Amino acid sequence: MNRAMSILSGSARVAGITGWPVAHSRSPRLHGYWLQRLAIDGAYVPLPVRPEHFATAMRGLLAAGFAGCNVTAPHKLAAFDICDSVDVTARRAGAVNTLVFRDGRISGSNTDGYGFLADLRAHGVDPAAGPALVLGAGGAARAVIAAFQDTGVAVTVANRTRARADALAGELPGLRVVDWQARAASLADHALLVNTTPLGMAGHDPLELDLSAAPSSLVVADIVYVPLETPLLAAARMRGLRAVEGLGMLLHQAVPGFRAWFGVEPQVDEALRRFVAADLLAP
Ligand SMILES: NC(=O)c1ccc[n+]([C@@H]2O[C@H](COP(=O)([O-])OP(=O)(O)OC[C@H]3O[C@@H](n4cnc5c(N)ncnc54)[C@H](OP(=O)(O)O)[C@@H]3O)[C@@H](O)[C@H]2O)c1
Repeated sequence: MNRAMSILSGSARVAGITGWPVAHSRSPRLHGYWLQRLAIDGAYVPLPVRPEHFATAMRGLLAAGFAGCNVTAPHKLAAFDICDSVDVTARRAGAVNTLVFRDGRISGSNTDGYGFLADLRAHGVDPAAGPALVLGAGGAARAVIAAFQDTGVAVTVANRTRARADALAGELPGLRVVDWQARAASLADHALLVNTTPLGMAGHDPLELDLSAAPSSLVVADIVYVPLETPLLAAARMRGLRAVEGLGMLLHQAVPGFRAWFGVEPQVDEALRRFVAADLLAP
């Protein structure tokens, strides 16, 4: 697919992604692929917005007729606060990553947890197959844990800062907490492992985790997607465990927003994955 811009009509729908910074985001590439593939009269643009201007900028987009936008760091909590209404997933996650502007109102949702589970299912993994161990207790962890719990899956969390995991357990009843140092030993009790920390991302230390106590049926998922094959996923494959890369979550979380803004259900397929992955491999 080439980089040619579509010619827009005066009634084109416009959405985008806001963050600070936002230049690293692959969402314009991802949504741009769908817009071009589906020949939609619409555009999806990067919206770099400083934190102190966030609320003003969002009200401005609403007034300017934008259909909505995705929200990335550091605005996911601020986005929650500017919404006229939020759905149950955003409320449970405590953060918003998708805004829809309609009839002068802003509604927010959080599609990260949906995207994560949709990608597991696309890999033939049943999220409800057994208890999940989630590493990390930040924004992405909250969304993943809430999605697991909504599916009836028992979840254990291990976080470097124990107090943050305990606080999360206070908000999400039923969430079990183990010490960060106990993460390897606790693998034996779980069917799924999910890394939601930045460990393993390019420029960060790798996640240190001894997989020798892991059951042979353990599914190992990493939500980091730069690089696609993190040291954790490579170690899991070396032990013969199923490994699920983080890019699929990014692709699937984008579907509900695109559908709401442009009125068409886009497909997540191998051609899309290759198109977005090619940009991750670029120097
Ligand atoms: N695939 C996707 O679609 C997708 C979507 C969202 C996010 N992500 C990725 O998920 C990662 C986390 O994002 P987030 O928004 O949840 O970040 P966040 O809110 O800042 O949370 C980061 C978490 O990682 C832990 N952590 C950070 N550095 C650590 C270290 N050196 N050792 C151990 N734990 C460490 C933090 O622990 P403390 O509490 O101890 O600080 C915290 O629990 C990022 O890499 C992001 O790119 C991917």
